[in-house]
Amino acid sequence: MSAPSVILETIDVTQRFGGLVANSNVSIKVGRGEILGLIGPNGAGKSTLFNAIAGARIPTSGRILFDGHDITALTAPDRCRLGIARTFQVPRSFDSMSVVENVMVGSFVRASNAREARQLALETLHFVGLGARVEDPAIQLTPPEKRRLEMARALATAPKLLLLDEVMTGLTPSEARLGVELIRKVRESGVTVVMVEHVMEIVMPLVDRAIVLHLGALLAEGKPTEIVRNDAVISAYLGDRHRAA
Ligand SMILES: Nc1ncnc2c1ncn2[C@@H]1O[C@H](COP(=O)(O)OP(=O)(O)OP(=O)(O)O)[C@@H](O)[C@H]1O
Ligand SMILES: [Mg+2]
Repeated sequence: MSAPSVILETIDVTQRFGGLVANSNVSIKVGRGEILGLIGPNGAGKSTLFNAIAGARIPTSGRILFDGHDITALTAPDRCRLGIARTFQVPRSFDSMSVVENVMVGSFVRASNAREARQLALETLHFVGLGARVEDPAIQLTPPEKRRLEMARALATAPKLLLLDEVMTGLTPSEARLGVELIRKVRESGVTVVMVEHVMEIVMPLVDRAIVLHLGALLAEGKPTEIVRNDAVISAYLGDRHRAA
């Protein structure tokens, strides 16, 4: 039997912080193998939805299904073992540890000993283009390298679904091009990708589909070509410069 084509589904996910509704009845489906863009203005609830999917916070209400499991009540480590990995909007690294040790934090999820964890971490670092930096202390990495380290730590868990929260932020155009290539390579390796990204020039050519959040709720979803022409999306987020483009 082939695997179902929907790998992730959120059903009416709502996250309240006191009186603020950060996610309001958000229902989305993510297809296996797709690159999905999650976009919307600052404060729209994108990172909050990632937290709900990855298990950093159990939503106030709603359900989350992943790869045949109801994961709504699972802890983040349990979700990681099922195949969900994420990067954080603000990169988190263990600065006093070496680059490879940072990535071993991820590969230990599936390795049975330190030697194997190290081997898996090294392979992942070569995959993301940090092969020359493995023994350096993480604190010596440049900001774009820290983003790659974040991705490596997530990929080292061998996820089925990778959640990327603004991994292109602060990159020069040429670094961003390398980032785009890396995300394509990740998808080609069989991983489903959901990415939050503000730079439309980067996200629109890369994603198969985009979902737009606004004020915590789903505003629109569709192919990039449909999204950039959607009047509600233009007025809430993209602005007139994209209408002209
Ligand atoms: N832990 C929290 N406690 C209280 N309010 C929160 C918390 N986390 C997020 N919020 C609020 O929820 C709303 C959604 O925040 P979130 O970080 O999900 O937005 P975002 O779409 O990721 O924005 P950005 O593009 O700026 O990263 C915001 O109003 C934010 O201030
Ligand atoms: Mg965010």
